[in-house]
Amino acid sequence: MKVIESEFFKEALRFIGYGCQMGWHERNAGNISLRLNKEELESVRDDFVLTDNWVSLPEAVVGMANEFVFTTVSGSYFIDMQYNSSEKFCICEISNQGSAYRIVWGGKRPTSELCGHLMSLSAMKQKNAGRAVYHCHPANIVALSYIIPQNDKEISSALWESETEGAFVFPQGVGVTGFHVPGTLELAKATAEKIKYYPAVLWSFHGIFASGDSIASAFGLAHAIEKAAEIKLKVLSSGLPIVNTITKEQQEITAKTYGFKLNEF
Ligand code: 13P
Ligand code: ZN
Repeated sequence: MKVIESEFFKEALRFIGYGCQMGWHERNAGNISLRLNKEELESVRDDFVLTDNWVSLPEAVVGMANEFVFTTVSGSYFIDMQYNSSEKFCICEISNQGSAYRIVWGGKRPTSELCGHLMSLSAMKQKNAGRAVYHCHPANIVALSYIIPQNDKEISSALWESETEGAFVFPQGVGVTGFHVPGTLELAKATAEKIKYYPAVLWSFHGIFASGDSIASAFGLAHAIEKAAEIKLKVLSSGLPIVNTITKEQQEITAKTYGFKLNEF
């Protein structure tokens, strides 16, 4: 089968379209990745072109050795992904040492955040916590970077108390990296460290990096976080006194009702 006929490709295109409708993808903002499973890989292998053009990674990601990762091409405008799609996505094969990649299908250069995706996909693989990542630039969660202290507990609590779903959609909370220059190894390492403990990471002043079992579930997590952030921001910017909230006890009961436990930090 051709990659563009595969379900994972169609799902990526669909959810990127939804992300654009949300206003999360100005210019080339955002990138996604999916570690292909055996069935997906075998179904599209015939469409690959193998070359010897291995590109070294700035740091080996041993846990991703021999994996194939479907991702977006750096600089692609998400609002225009439907057009010439096969140049805006690519599949990277990771070398048997995890120290290099080569493109086996699609556009020329993977996202500038490739290291962050690979290191995070590796951490997720280790704890059996999904194989997809959705990164986007939603305005409300980014705005919260400016007014909520930059630590995991403060950000998570602010989101849990803003919408009832928070306590069972992301009971582990959301990690936060602080400022890092986009596309750097420093950001990649900070993200992978946080993704060991949290399903999503706030890149301060930049965006959200959400993980999941599929592109759809990673997108859904980003959506839930952004909605809670929007409510928080609306409440704070109303200027009115806050006379009610979802108490810690109510958050804990909500999580427990759905079989989860709120992270205690
Ligand atoms: P890329 O176009 O290289 O994926 O960069 C977009 C982005 O959002 C960087 O964080
Ligand atoms: Zn970004």
